[in-house]
Amino acid sequence: MLRKRRRVRAGSSRGAAASSAPLPARFPGIVLYLAEPRMGRSRRAFLTRLAVSKGFRVLDVYSSEVTHVVMEQTSAEEAINWQKRMAADLDYHHPALLDISWFTESMAAGQPVPMEVRHHLEVAEPKKAPPSPVLMPAYACQRPTPLSHHNTRLSEALETLAEAAGFNSNEGRLLSFHRAASVLKALPYPVTSLSQLQGLLHFGEHSSRVIQELLECGTCEEVELVRCSERYQTMKVFTQIFGVGVKTANRWYQEGLRTLDDLREQPQRLTQQQKAGLQHYEDLSTPVGRADAQALQRLVEATVEHTLPGATVTLTGGFRRGKLQGHDVDFLLTHPEEGQEVGLLPRVMSHLQNQGLVLYHQYHCSHLGDPAHHLQRQNHTMDAFERSFCILRLPQPPEAAMDVAQNPCPAWKAVRVDLVVAPSSQYPFALLGWTGSQLFERELRRFSWQEKGLRLNSHGLYDPEQKAFFHVTSEEDIFKHLGLTYLPPEQRNA
Ligand code: UTP
Ligand code: MN
Repeated sequence: MLRKRRRVRAGSSRGAAASSAPLPARFPGIVLYLAEPRMGRSRRAFLTRLAVSKGFRVLDVYSSEVTHVVMEQTSAEEAINWQKRMAADLDYHHPALLDISWFTESMAAGQPVPMEVRHHLEVAEPKKAPPSPVLMPAYACQRPTPLSHHNTRLSEALETLAEAAGFNSNEGRLLSFHRAASVLKALPYPVTSLSQLQGLLHFGEHSSRVIQELLECGTCEEVELVRCSERYQTMKVFTQIFGVGVKTANRWYQEGLRTLDDLREQPQRLTQQQKAGLQHYEDLSTPVGRADAQALQRLVEATVEHTLPGATVTLTGGFRRGKLQGHDVDFLLTHPEEGQEVGLLPRVMSHLQNQGLVLYHQYHCSHLGDPAHHLQRQNHTMDAFERSFCILRLPQPPEAAMDVAQNPCPAWKAVRVDLVVAPSSQYPFALLGWTGSQLFERELRRFSWQEKGLRLNSHGLYDPEQKAFFHVTSEEDIFKHLGLTYLPPEQRNA
């Protein structure tokens, strides 16, 4: 059994305490009454505080003012009998009798959600049994994960906890929460009861407790506390700066730095990359849209074609998986004739520079000595391709140059772009590795090694026993060698 986290704080469930909201009621015309019988006093008090904090008016004593009665684990028949008893002396007063699901959905939305038939207790609708648990393969690379799914609210909560664990360099916890979130993304139905998670891998006590609280109350206190905390918010701002990882952000935090202005006052602490990141912070922290990614693709394609006819440019990363927005735009360059790609990137970069399009770039030359060397370093996250991490200046179309109030907007915006070059023999591996998601890649590599004894990374697939590399010509080939069903990029959103 899972322990329920019930917080009973000061503030009783009696009298006017509940109705004297600390915040003005935000939803005129809506007056809630939480019926106690099945709910229990302390839970009622907790839910009352929650609703009041979201701006709802909640009465503690039933009266003709009440417009919405919320009940838990109550049948339509019981609800109607309750109503008759309570309202015996309140003629013609018929508030909506609602199931707790209307309340939790409203709390999650931060406003009253429309009342649907399924919320109404007056309608004796046979309750559909929730779908029973499904069989879910253990590794994310063994199951399709679409971009939009049925459990966004739940997966986002777990991902917040994963992110916070990452900020504390707690890799184990980060992975546990990410894996649990990823299972939710792959489920073909919305989770409405904890029993649906029974038997699913990656749901430990902690993740289950979070889900239980979200299902019962619409929010999870732990997640809300994390989101509001100074630590989380500061780490989020700092790690969003181009060139700043968790370690640096954490050091700054420990030293008492809190804001971007704190950093700007200490330029001696910053690398050139971080200075560029700070300079363009506003643009870079605004998500890049698909139209911008496509405009960049045309721009990079034209430059590459001019530099080396026949070379190709492929949009990878989140945009290849169908995402509509991203934090950057990732491109993979290659040439069908192995060897032709050598030296391509510096020439592409200087051509982009000549067009005035490069705000910052950091070039890494290829250190592809022995590819087997990279395949043996399984957890080494950086691959050895020639690459350029840049901030490009993307001209904006004329229609975007005015805001809604017809004020002129800047004619360009700064965008983070990664350009990576792979020789054609490694291209399918590089494409697979740079398409992500990050968790999908981790799981794919873990699957290869633990289930097949093979080393996979963005350079190749290696059999240490045979001391041999696999030759492939497509991503499909790689899935085949691993004994996996092919998943198109749109199904790799683990
Ligand atoms: P991103 O960090 O760009 O993620 O890496 P994304 O999925 O595109 O998401 P957003 O929208 O930009 O935030 C894309 C893929 O490239 C791999 C990552 O593993 C990820 O799967 N990658 C990234 C590398 O292999 N090496 C790197 O140095 C960086
Ligand atoms: Mn990306």
